[in-house]
Amino acid sequence: MTILVTGATGNVGRHVVDLLVRAGADVRATSRNPESLDLPPQVEVRRADLNDPKTFEQALQGVEKVFLYTQPAGVQGVMEAAKAAGVTHAVLLSSRAVSGRDSDHWIARWHRTMEAAIEQSGLAWTFVRPGTFAANSLQWARSIRNGEPVRLLYAHSHVSPIHERDIAEVSTVALLQEGHAGAKYHITGGESISQAEQLALIGQAIGRDVAFEDITGDDARAVLRERFSSRIQELVQDGVVDREATSGIVEDRIRYYVEALEGPAEIDRTAERVLGKPMRTFAEWAVDHKADFTN
Ligand SMILES: NC(=O)c1ccc[n+]([C@@H]2O[C@H](COP(=O)([O-])OP(=O)(O)OC[C@H]3O[C@@H](n4cnc5c(N)ncnc54)[C@H](OP(=O)(O)O)[C@@H]3O)[C@@H](O)[C@H]2O)c1
Repeated sequence: MTILVTGATGNVGRHVVDLLVRAGADVRATSRNPESLDLPPQVEVRRADLNDPKTFEQALQGVEKVFLYTQPAGVQGVMEAAKAAGVTHAVLLSSRAVSGRDSDHWIARWHRTMEAAIEQSGLAWTFVRPGTFAANSLQWARSIRNGEPVRLLYAHSHVSPIHERDIAEVSTVALLQEGHAGAKYHITGGESISQAEQLALIGQAIGRDVAFEDITGDDARAVLRERFSSRIQELVQDGVVDREATSGIVEDRIRYYVEALEGPAEIDRTAERVLGKPMRTFAEWAVDHKADFTN
């Protein structure tokens, strides 16, 4: 049985490839730049780009199951190619936002578009819906490496960050074992922790204190406007949000941070039930990523 891993260079996809190889599966991986992939020699590599879904036709030949990182613009074409190739089961990297309180939020709509396309494809599916990735903290890496204070937006807001390896483990179980078709797995890390505490744990991992600035209010709005500007253009292009709705995206994010100041962040034990073991902690994540934070 050949399993295709799309987004194989991503935070989660690279671990899915590794876990499948360790389990002895026959693995094929895609990237837009296959020459950039550094994978074990037994992994077949194919070029595929969601902006040109036809590129998936060849990558999907002979494939039985697929781990999907996808985007609204490409998902329909990829699912048509998967069906034509005789794929039986797709495990989608989705988001917990889909079923969150704010079901009209753009992240929810973005992922719902993809889930709907997969449901309509007629293939068996599993939706892996993680909350905040621990890997989001990699955005602080440059400041930390440069010895500069990290600019944290609402430093004392709480999250329940999940290690990308745990997301990959849940996805791999859904690919390799029976009984996961039709499941929607909401998964988070196992602890509620503030961003300032995350930074302190990164400091412990690299052996020095890391200073931060707590950015709030209009200063945070300015940072978010800059950070989201290209993302917002993509969302308008993909038809996920209207141009007029885009100012709301920054305000949504501010509201999210302010609410998260109250803490604790919600914790979902689904992944622990699927895997039969506790989630990795953020302290473990920080140790695993020491090299990203040091020169
Ligand atoms: N960050 C969070 O807190 C969070 C929470 C919940 C859900 N999510 C969801 O998780 C996903 C991101 O996962 P990740 O962090 O593992 O991904 P990532 O590290 O951002 O990597 C994205 C992967 O997608 C591939 N890719 C990008 N554009 C592509 C295209 N046009 N065609 C084909 N492949 C393309 C890239 O491969 P190449 O460059 O090699 O082609 C790369 O491997 C998103 O859907 C996000 O919404 C994120």
